Amino acid sequence: MMKALILTNDRSNPLELREVEAPVPAPGQVRLRVKAAALNRRDYYISRGQYAAIRYDSIQGSDVCGIVDAVASDADAAWLGRRVVIDPGFNWGASEKYQGGDYGITGMQRDGSFAQYMLADSTSLYAAPEHLDDIEAAALPLAGVTAYRALFSRGQLKEGESVLVSGAGGGVAQFILQFAAAHGARVYVTTGTEEKIEYAMASGAAGGVLYHADNWSAELRGMSGGIDLAVDGAGGNGIDSILRSLNPGGRLVMYGSTLGRPEGLDTHRIFWRQLNIMGSTMGSPRDFAAMIEFVQHHKIKPVIDSVRPLTSILEAYERMRTNAQFGKLAIRIED
Ligand SMILES: NC(=O)c1ccc[n+]([C@@H]2O[C@H](COP(=O)([O-])OP(=O)(O)OC[C@H]3O[C@@H](n4cnc5c(N)ncnc54)[C@H](OP(=O)(O)O)[C@@H]3O)[C@@H](O)[C@H]2O)c1
Repeated sequence: MMKALILTNDRSNPLELREVEAPVPAPGQVRLRVKAAALNRRDYYISRGQYAAIRYDSIQGSDVCGIVDAVASDADAAWLGRRVVIDPGFNWGASEKYQGGDYGITGMQRDGSFAQYMLADSTSLYAAPEHLDDIEAAALPLAGVTAYRALFSRGQLKEGESVLVSGAGGGVAQFILQFAAAHGARVYVTTGTEEKIEYAMASGAAGGVLYHADNWSAELRGMSGGIDLAVDGAGGNGIDSILRSLNPGGRLVMYGSTLGRPEGLDTHRIFWRQLNIMGSTMGSPRDFAAMIEFVQHHKIKPVIDSVRPLTSILEAYERMRTNAQFGKLAIRIED
């Protein structure tokens, strides 16, 4: 048996800690003893019913660091006892340009890491980077691969360019900030409080502005000299200000829309200034492997907002709801 956070169909009580059967691996799968997990905004959306094709009585959690404690095939025996993270995406498909129709994400679609044990395809396993402790390693996978693809595979970031990271306190945003700074870019941020601007500067940002301020794009242009590449997960009306911050020929990569659709866009600016707007989602297995290599090479450490035991995980969902976090909300899974 094991403790797990179960996603229920009861709107008044959508997440419930229960004792359930521990899973048994099938051929091609391994079982992990989960050491640590981390929250992503998709966990919060799913818990509120705001996601397609929700599978109830499932277990959320796309991020994990664990120890392989059971395998189904001799071919996977070499993984036994190893400390691993998993690529949360599965069935990416044949093209590097986009994911195929069978693509899915571990955590709900397949049972995830908010439990003492979970299953994973052996092809999704990666040795946890040695410079990261269990909590830090668990904070990396989903946000790390999303940041890596948006910034490099899609955004084609070059050394010396100016980069805007919007909503710098977000789980994905803090990786975009750190990856861009490690790659030699000048990084600027928008965020919600002065304190978070200071945190962002401690993570490598050259400066930042408050997204609630009127006309923040003018302040940002003054500070940065204009932005070559903006990476945004917020959407909403901030998009127009981001476009105003871009240099001619600049790029905007969008990986989320926490604030929904913008009410208006200055389309004239987009064509006259030869701007490029791109979408990005998660990452291919190639992106994931490159992200792990990049993190190891630059010894990048995820920013951890806070760590809680599984028994207090609902507090982490609440902290995400109020946008109080700076960095990842991590969960320590007790033995
Ligand atoms: N396409 C994909 O593959 C993919 C993958 C992961 C996430 N996402 C999406 O990306 C978004 C962020 O995900 P996450 O896990 O990083 O979420 P998160 O950790 O909850 O971060 C959300 C952040 O949004 C920022 N924000 C709030 N109001 C804002 C505003 N007016 N302007 C700019 N930023 C604002 C806040 O930044 P401050 O803390 O700085 O105030 C907050 O920390 C979500 O919509 C998520 O669904 C997409």
